[in-house]
Amino acid sequence: EVTRLWGGRFSGGPSEALARLSLSTHFDWRLARHDIAGSRAHARVLHAAGLLTDPELDAMIAGLDRLEADVASGAFTPVLADEDVHTALERGFIERVGPELGGRLRAGRSRNDQIATLVRMYLREQARAIASDVLDLAAALADQAEANIDVPMPGRTHLQHAQPVLLAHHLLAHAWPLLRDVARLRDWDARAAVSAYGSGALAGSSLGLDPDAVAADLGFPASAQNSIDGTAARDVVAEFAFVAAMTGVDLSRLAEEVILWATKEFSFVTLDDAFSTGSSIMPQKKNPDIAELARGKAGRLVGDLAGLLTTLKGLPLAYNRDLQEDKEPVFDAVDTLGLLLPAFTGMVATLVFNRERMAELAPQGFSLATDIAEWLVRRRVPFREAHEIAGACVRACEERGIDLPDLTDADLAAISPHLTPDVREVLTVAGSLASRSAKGGTAPARVKEQLERVRAEIAAH
Ligand code: ARG
Repeated sequence: EVTRLWGGRFSGGPSEALARLSLSTHFDWRLARHDIAGSRAHARVLHAAGLLTDPELDAMIAGLDRLEADVASGAFTPVLADEDVHTALERGFIERVGPELGGRLRAGRSRNDQIATLVRMYLREQARAIASDVLDLAAALADQAEANIDVPMPGRTHLQHAQPVLLAHHLLAHAWPLLRDVARLRDWDARAAVSAYGSGALAGSSLGLDPDAVAADLGFPASAQNSIDGTAARDVVAEFAFVAAMTGVDLSRLAEEVILWATKEFSFVTLDDAFSTGSSIMPQKKNPDIAELARGKAGRLVGDLAGLLTTLKGLPLAYNRDLQEDKEPVFDAVDTLGLLLPAFTGMVATLVFNRERMAELAPQGFSLATDIAEWLVRRRVPFREAHEIAGACVRACEERGIDLPDLTDADLAAISPHLTPDVREVLTVAGSLASRSAKGGTAPARVKEQLERVRAEIAAH
């Protein structure tokens, strides 16, 4: 039994090499449920257009229901001769309702408008699942921020000590991009929520089928404005791949810090046993594999995006078979984030921070030098001069191997008459933190407000 959807003008079957090359069921079978939902909606517009009688529609829907149950139970699966998910399901449908009725379903529909719609249905579903996983991670960061709300740490630029910040401020700085990733998925959905059903192969349908009715049936608020665009565009798929890649990159940046923080040299965090791995040879090892896999998989997600964009570049309108290559990259992106996010969230939620060590290092590396300069500015010293004076303090300390708070009143006065003893009010981590009290700053009061905002954003999504 030949299951091809296009045998009429051919004298023989495809070569085995072509059949193997052409095959896509090993990846597009995950769209079977959506394909069947699409078939139900399509049957209903065929009926509405007078192309199916009432009993025919009922029999079709019943047949599709049976097929869906058999797909779900695994009783029906694709065979090698089924070119793609659509071909396999048409075979299964005809096996269940017979060739007469089964042969009517495909009228006014092409695999081109079908696949364009199914991919969107699938990705819209997955986007909601990914968003929920990303929000769980943002919530884990918020919980850690709250649990460590008073802990200072060295804030870094160029990986060098820069200014003290609150650990909570730093952790929330990782939550905001994740919240934007979720917002991106939501914005994306507005563009993805367009059904291509009714576009046919490329030119639209001549059978009086209502594309908006199919769209509504499948949960799309709209159908395509242009049938060529409906079948040929994949920007929405690429945009999904971008958001997945961006999310991966956001995880990777945090991952890199966790990896550094877990080194002996930093000793900022201890990883939970359940979220770290050992070495097959070195008994003492405890490795941050989840963070490393996150860093590695970010590269994979970027590759998915790059591969897809490369497929699309230079592709003429309308459908070309190259477009079959759109699915594996985004399916890989979905699977990758589906595996990665729960593990990553577990790792973050169970990190134990070495608060004493972080607090101890916060003022080191002369990270309070800016505070001296800004204290002078508040005393009306021009910043240019204030910068020089604070720099001279650092030089004096470096020469003598001491830290800024170790400078005596006499040392300070010798550097500049502006440096009266009350400069010491900013020469503490607490003083430095408290002084950065403008909106968005690391002052404890601001960070507490920020934490509330992050929590509110998580709840609002
Ligand atoms: N399997 C194809 C894809 O994923 C859809 C079928 C369109 N094939 C065709 N020869 N027009 O894009």
